[in-house]
Amino acid sequence: MRASLTSIMLTFPPDFLWGVSTSAYQFEGGEPPNQWSEWERQGRIRSGDSHGLACDWWKSMEADLDRCRELGLTSMRISVEWARIEPEQGRWDRAAIERYVEILSAIRKRGMRPFVTLHHFTHPLWFEKQGAFLQQNSPELFATFAEFCVQHLGSVCNDWLTFNEPNVYAVFGYIFGEFPPAHLHSVRDCAVVLAHMHRAHALAYDRIHRAQEKATVGLTVNWIDFKPATNSPSDRLLTFSYDAVFNRSTLQLLNSGSLQFPFGALAPDVPEAVDKADFIGLNIYNRLHVRSGWGQDFLSTGGIFTPSHVPQGDPGVLLPYGEACPEAVIPAVKEYARLGKPIYIFENGVPDRSDRIRPWVLVQSIHHVAKLLYSGYDLRGYFHWSLIDNFEWNEGWKLRFGLYELDPVTQVRTARPSAALYKQIIRNQGVSDELLGSFSEQPATGSV
Ligand code: BGC
Repeated sequence: MRASLTSIMLTFPPDFLWGVSTSAYQFEGGEPPNQWSEWERQGRIRSGDSHGLACDWWKSMEADLDRCRELGLTSMRISVEWARIEPEQGRWDRAAIERYVEILSAIRKRGMRPFVTLHHFTHPLWFEKQGAFLQQNSPELFATFAEFCVQHLGSVCNDWLTFNEPNVYAVFGYIFGEFPPAHLHSVRDCAVVLAHMHRAHALAYDRIHRAQEKATVGLTVNWIDFKPATNSPSDRLLTFSYDAVFNRSTLQLLNSGSLQFPFGALAPDVPEAVDKADFIGLNIYNRLHVRSGWGQDFLSTGGIFTPSHVPQGDPGVLLPYGEACPEAVIPAVKEYARLGKPIYIFENGVPDRSDRIRPWVLVQSIHHVAKLLYSGYDLRGYFHWSLIDNFEWNEGWKLRFGLYELDPVTQVRTARPSAALYKQIIRNQGVSDELLGSFSEQPATGSV
């Protein structure tokens, strides 16, 4: 697939997919018996918010699908909630799977190609209580679930992501203690979880292909542009380590079957993961700055910070979200292109309640994607995170990522200017030079 040059506008090919990404827990609402409902019941959501109806998709999502069609989207990424489908080990809930058939049919009916993520951070409480991905037989349990989904949803979907961001799941759950099970600084557990998730991915990859001839199977990783605060060897070494552990773990496992030293010494090899992906997804949001150091402050932040003068969206409850950095797509795509697989940008966006910076992020990011495509990288789609404001994990309703604003109480949706902008880019199949001109300046710096 190649882009073509019209004046200076890089146009996208007609089969390039334009989408939005979403996830079950953040959009569906209700209380599925998963580890995040439990975390919330324990009062551990940092913002103190409760997720309540979320975007109320379990009951009805048709009006939002009409919004997608109105924007001109050709694809949509959702996830399925394992805890709804297998609420107790070995008990499959037919009504839940039927609801997903309905949802996927409704997406297809509107001319959009669905991508389904099988694990987007949440899983059943029974699985969590057994030790989740720390346990030896987690790959088998996950692959059984994946196979069940494909057997029952295969008539309405061909494109599967096993996991959303194993790197975020493992690092936030086992090093930062920000996600359940909230282990702190357990580097070994983090490495083991990563290894087991990729083993689970490989096993599911085989089962899905056995169950569905037309299936394509991949996964998506989060890429952060780590930047050393200075040129000192210690800042650069720390940055290099974060890059290796966080950004490149999936690349290493799919390429060689093992994590890089010294991480690799802590976890089993996963030779069966080598080359097991039909496509790779990249979720790209921000840049984090890295400064080496000692003492309590360093221990609590890991030396990661966001200078106040850089462009950024709204801050989280305790910390800034990071520097908004559209050009981060460039190193991410170049690095993962080493796998030789088609690449999708499956998430890109910024928390921005007032839509102050989102238009710039949208225009610049898509322009960088076009340039990469034009240089020959095999990019197949851009998916914005997200259609509407949704429940942002520990930050609850504080961080707003929607093209549409959502009032979680009244459920009223209001389009932000970025919705019309995205529509215009899709209609023109690219960013016109006029648009590029209007959004070339970095927006006013600092968070609101
Ligand atoms: C996750 C989403 C999340 C988004 C914004 C991604 O890392 O996949 O679930 O809402 O970032 O923070």
